[in-house]
Amino acid sequence: MPFTVPVLPEGVDPAWLPPGAFRAVGSRRTLIQGSGPLVETVHGEAAWACARFGGGVDRAAGSGTSAYDLVFRVEQGYRDEEFACGRSGGTTVVTASGGRGLLYGLFHVVRLGEDAFHGERPAEVHRPAVALRMLDHWDNVAVHPVMGQVERGYAGGSLFWRDGRARGESERVRAYARLLAACGINAVAVNNVNVHETEAHLLTDRIGDVAALAEQFRAYGIRTHLSVTFAAPVVLGGPATADPLDAGVRGWWAEATARVYESIPDFGGYVVKADSEGQPGPFAYGRSHADGANMLAAALEPYGGTVHWRAFVYDHRQDWRDRSTDRARAAYDHFAPLDGEFAANAVLQVKHGPMDFQVREPVSPVIGAMPRTRLAVEFQATQEYTGQQRHVCWLGPMWSEVLRFRPDAETAVGALADGLVAVSNAGDDPYWTGHPLAQANLYTFGRLAWDPGAGPGDVLREWIGLTHPDAPERLVDGLHAVLDGSWRTYEKYTAPLGVGFMVQPGHHYGPSVDGYEYSPWGTYHFADRDGVGVDRSAATGTGYAAQYAKVWAEVYESPDTCPDELALFFHHLPYGHVLRGGSTLIQHIYDTRFEGVAEVEAAREVWGSLAGLMEPARHARVAELYEEQLRSAREWRDQVNSYFFRKSGVPDARGRRIY
Ligand code: GCU
Repeated sequence: MPFTVPVLPEGVDPAWLPPGAFRAVGSRRTLIQGSGPLVETVHGEAAWACARFGGGVDRAAGSGTSAYDLVFRVEQGYRDEEFACGRSGGTTVVTASGGRGLLYGLFHVVRLGEDAFHGERPAEVHRPAVALRMLDHWDNVAVHPVMGQVERGYAGGSLFWRDGRARGESERVRAYARLLAACGINAVAVNNVNVHETEAHLLTDRIGDVAALAEQFRAYGIRTHLSVTFAAPVVLGGPATADPLDAGVRGWWAEATARVYESIPDFGGYVVKADSEGQPGPFAYGRSHADGANMLAAALEPYGGTVHWRAFVYDHRQDWRDRSTDRARAAYDHFAPLDGEFAANAVLQVKHGPMDFQVREPVSPVIGAMPRTRLAVEFQATQEYTGQQRHVCWLGPMWSEVLRFRPDAETAVGALADGLVAVSNAGDDPYWTGHPLAQANLYTFGRLAWDPGAGPGDVLREWIGLTHPDAPERLVDGLHAVLDGSWRTYEKYTAPLGVGFMVQPGHHYGPSVDGYEYSPWGTYHFADRDGVGVDRSAATGTGYAAQYAKVWAEVYESPDTCPDELALFFHHLPYGHVLRGGSTLIQHIYDTRFEGVAEVEAAREVWGSLAGLMEPARHARVAELYEEQLRSAREWRDQVNSYFFRKSGVPDARGRRIY
């Protein structure tokens, strides 16, 4: 059956693939040579574009290729996802060794637009720097009593599941796959890392539901992965133990995995959250994380699958009175000693920071500390702690900083990682991501995963160009004005200088300075009348700073060298401490909170001025969300400032209103 481009359900936004983005390709004469399912996808895409814009597509060249403006050709000598693109004699040629490379080449040409068809250009080879570019969906099959359909989801329901069942909306899933392929994603995990009762069955009797999703993703070169519970044998009626060294357990997993591959021959593998926040794991049997991961790796190995074992392991039942426990240390303490013990098809999936996706964290010291372990770095596109898709917070600059960080002063994180993963921010919302501008996060993640060294500003420009083809300069400038600095703006009005949290417990939206201070999940700021922050130095603190390679351990050890933005993450400082930037700590807290709110006010104004330059519904949705962002930013400013004014007794040097 010929491949057809998915039709978007009525009212669903085309995001970064509106028909207009295909005008340049669609108005050309295109030749597609080669065969295979993904070549069919490329053909379907080109045919769809040409039907709209008057071009044409051929499968076989009648009188040579010179009659064509655009040629897609299969040619040996390229790596799996690689393609070359060049232009000579009036023909733009994309070559790759198969459909996968051609598909990425097609979207490359779409991004170039008219530029792809002018001048002469030697063939340039493009290849992803990172092999695995993955989205993890924290989607539940059954609605969870606390977390709902999508854990930490701010974009409506799940695209895959509803009320305990598969939604079966294959067109929408395929349209999602298409968006993901266009930004370079090649793997998706379709259920939450917290695997509850219903979801455990996806591995066995409900694998058909997963296979149906895999079929749609496959059409765009995306492999499907599944989150599984470590206790699956017990939960699903197998052996009464989940001990990873037990022969019966190993046999059970081998059989279960064989059946998975019968249904999904290109299945990607398992994602596992074990011994983390109450999820079962190998500790119950006195076994290590490597034992656990390797057992699953062994089951997947015959089929080329991979186990993604998450390093998000810490004590979530702390006593705030116990000053010796530091949550930041936990991942390194648990995993660094296991370097070299993980199987070749086990990937340790590490959150980019040591805590939990706060607006500002140092890069996790696990990254770079385990040279003999395959590593995936996990980001959070879903804005759990960064405004929950009610606030504009474009995370490109933050992710780029992480990817460019050099843990050993030599190799950047982006080059160390075998995989880059983001928790998806998409759902069944008509704009996919709730906040229409949050689409930029999803797109940016994919593009940075393809090229971690790319400038985030360039990626944003691409996103704007695709999403709003033919946008007048005023719109382009306006979108940059509201997005470029939005992460730093968010940082300015929320928790200061890397201290993190200060959010409402549970749902994590809005300020609560002491919300977690006495909770079992960890203590984060230790503010008293004299100062605030956590001493993580080796000399006098928790010793966390010493988990880094020497170059960074030395930088972080002293407030004199520690970057200001992490000052309170690494140090407990008096309110009168003069930061490297020149302000006292307390004045910095006041100033940045006021600045943050002023920046939101300014962004809201800019947005208002863009009315009439896009569909009214999109403009109105964002305008409405800006009202909430501003309300919330003011709430943050006033709570944080009042809290520190009351603790310190130090008035604002500029005499502004503090409550
Ligand atoms: C955060 C988040 C949880 C999630 C967890 C994880 O703590 O709040 O909802 O389950 O991260 O990454 O496993």
